[in-house]
Amino acid sequence: MKVAFELNGQPVTVEASPWKRLLDVLREDLRATGTKEGCGEGECGACTVMMDGEAVNSCLVAVGQCDGRTLVTVEGLATGDVLHAVQRELVACGGAQCGICTPGIAVCAAHVIDRGLVAGVDDATARVRVRELLAGNICRCTGYQLIVDAVIAAARSVQP
Ligand code: FES
Ligand code: FES
Repeated sequence: MKVAFELNGQPVTVEASPWKRLLDVLREDLRATGTKEGCGEGECGACTVMMDGEAVNSCLVAVGQCDGRTLVTVEGLATGDVLHAVQRELVACGGAQCGICTPGIAVCAAHVIDRGLVAGVDDATARVRVRELLAGNICRCTGYQLIVDAVIAAARSVQP
């Protein structure tokens, strides 16, 4: 089956079984290897991408569901050489930890920031909200504090 969608602003067409996991199509067919596999069962969030503006686990999405959709992976967060605010702050705060979890966290956090989901609330409320919104992104090294710091710093840098 031919499936056509937009990936990080570019139109792409792939020939694949409609049941092939989006995660595998991204990594194997499109060489977009920034998206990682952790659990492969929808539990860890490592494979998070945005589909039509919503964060989804690409290990649970069949590529046949992607026809005509707009997808953004971690490779699409930056604009040219300018990092997305959350990428910049993950680096600055020391929240960019392992290479498996960080891409999915960056995508999910970018969604939180771009949607203004922690805008206009005090820091304590923002901290609770970020933890809830990123609850689907599991970090086995348990270093959540710096990740939360980075997301709040990024959010404040674009929406005080
Ligand atoms: S690899 Fe998809 S949620 Fe873990
Ligand atoms: S960031 Fe991957 S295990 Fe903590």
